[in-house]
Amino acid sequence: MEQQRAIVITGASRGLGFELLDLLVGVGARPIAIGRGLDPRHAAAVANSACIFLAADLSVLESLEQIDLAGALPQTADEIVLISNAGVVEPIGTLGTIDGASLAAAFAVNALAPAILARKLLAATGAQKTRLRILNISTGAARRPLPGLAAYCASKAAAAMILDCLGKERSDIAIEHIDPGVLDTDMQTTLRSADDQALPVRQLFASFESEAKLRHPRDVAREILTRASLL
Ligand SMILES: NC(=O)c1ccc[n+]([C@@H]2O[C@H](COP(=O)([O-])OP(=O)(O)OC[C@H]3O[C@@H](n4cnc5c(N)ncnc54)[C@H](OP(=O)(O)O)[C@@H]3O)[C@@H](O)[C@H]2O)c1
Repeated sequence: MEQQRAIVITGASRGLGFELLDLLVGVGARPIAIGRGLDPRHAAAVANSACIFLAADLSVLESLEQIDLAGALPQTADEIVLISNAGVVEPIGTLGTIDGASLAAAFAVNALAPAILARKLLAATGAQKTRLRILNISTGAARRPLPGLAAYCASKAAAAMILDCLGKERSDIAIEHIDPGVLDTDMQTTLRSADDQALPVRQLFASFESEAKLRHPRDVAREILTRASLL
């Protein structure tokens, strides 16, 4: 019998997530995309069931809790893959200047969302013998403290640690952290457009562009999916 795999991806409206979703739709993987919205180019895919879209604002705990993953997943999947990709780099600013609400929102999107989605998948797969894989789109910043980026560095580090704890609890779950490198997406535009006072290392991000170090997210998406045997 043919193996059935369900792929769940967060933050597919733009950037790396858009390209990951686009490639998955292209090979007929019928992915489940979670986020605040989708690019209009993927509306047709949703309309003809080539993709399922679950609307959620990942910065809001109530919205996260309401995601009906169990309802969207096929009953008979042998394997479920979560690609935790959604991320926010804001608030940008030294710790004394950033406000609590945006700090909490960053932790919700970058760390709580992967944890809650993983928990939902555990519940959805609990009774069956479904394999679970989590691909966490991480960053070098999760291991490297950068002034002005405490919220991003710390919340991405938290995501990795939460998932690593899960990995220790459940050796049957495959967890992989993927650093995609520096990508030509809105996130990098936000970083190099930041105020020098708010982001003392802004020049580093400006140099990624001026030295042509930014990679196209399509190429990186293809590499990630190929390496994960999802294409
Ligand atoms: N860009 C880089 O150089 C780089 C480097 C290392 C790691 N990464 C990681 O790669 C991943 C993708 O980054 P990217 O560069 O593609 O970022 P991006 O272009 O800024 O896109 C971020 C994605 O996350 C979604 N998202 C943000 N806040 C959300 C919320 N509250 N609810 C639902 N979705 C939300 C966005 O959706 P909306 O359109 O609704 O905002 C968008 O789809 C991130 O995890 C990032 O940490 C990026």
